[in-house]
Amino acid sequence: MKTNQTFKPLLRLWHWLTVFSIFGLLFTVLLRKTFLSKSANAAIIQDKLSAMSIHIDTEQALSIAKAIRAPMWEWHYIFAVILGIAILVRVIAMIKGDAKMPIFKLIESQSLEERLKNSVHLLLCLSILLIAISGAFYYYHDTLGFAKESVKWVKEFHEFLLYPIVLFVTMHIVGVIKHELTTKECIVSKMIHGDE
Ligand code: HEM
Ligand code: HEM
Repeated sequence: MKTNQTFKPLLRLWHWLTVFSIFGLLFTVLLRKTFLSKSANAAIIQDKLSAMSIHIDTEQALSIAKAIRAPMWEWHYIFAVILGIAILVRVIAMIKGDAKMPIFKLIESQSLEERLKNSVHLLLCLSILLIAISGAFYYYHDTLGFAKESVKWVKEFHEFLLYPIVLFVTMHIVGVIKHELTTKECIVSKMIHGDE
C-alpha cells in the first residue's frame, strides 16, 4: 500500500493534539482506577486511622479519598478541552480542504489493506467524537437542565467507549509500526514534519 497522500500542517496539528489529549485522558482514567481509586484509598485511610485509634465510617473515608483524587481528575477536563480544540482544528482542516472526512477516505479506498486502515481511522474518529460529546453532555447536564439520574446512561455509554478507543488506538499504532517497518515511506516522520 503506497502512502502518497500529503499531511498538511493543520492535519498534523490535529493529529498530535489528539494523540496528546487522548493519552492524557487515558492516563487520568488509569490513575482513577488504580493508585487513586476511591474505594481502595478509603480502605487504606480507614485502616491507618483505626491503627491510630481514630475511627471513621466508610462514607467519611470515601469523602477523604475523593478529595485526594479531585486535583488529579481536574486533568480529565483539561485534556478534554485540548481534545475539543483538536476536534475544532480537524473541522477547520476539512473545511479548508487540508483533510478529508474519514468516511470519504474509506469510500475512496483502492485496496483491501487501505480499506482496513481507513476503517480503523473512521471507527477511531467516530468513537472519539462520541466520547467527547457524551463527556461534555454529562459534564454540563445541570446547565442543560437534565437531572443526574436521567443522564446516568450517558455516563455509562461514555465509560463503555473506553474499550473501543483502546482497541482502535492499539490497532492503529500496530498498523503504523508495521507500515514503518515494512516500507521505506517513513510515514511517522511525514506525520511529524510533513512531506517536504
Ligand atoms: C491516541 C492515539 C492516536 C489517535 C487517536 C490517532 C488517530 C489517527 C487518525 C484518525 C489518522 C487518520 C488521519 C487522516 O484522516 O488522514 C491517523 C493517521 C496516522 N497516525 Fe495516528 N493516531 C494516534 C496515535 C498515533 C501514533 C502514536 C503514531 C506514531 C507512532 C501515529 C501515526 C500516524 C500516522 C503515520 C498516520 C498516517 C497513516 C496513513 O495515512 O497511512 N498515530 N492517526
Ligand atoms: C479518550 C477520551 C476519554 C476517555 C477514555 C474517558 C473515560 C472516562 C471514564 C472511564 C470515566 C468513568 C470514570 C469512573 O467513574 O471510574 C469518565 C468519566 C467522565 N468523563 Fe471521560 N473520558 C474521555 C473523554 C472525556 C471528555 C472529552 C469529556 C468532556 C468533558 C469527559 C468527561 C467526563 C465526565 C464529566 C465524567 C464523569 C466524572 C464523574 O462522574 O465524576 N471525558 N471518562
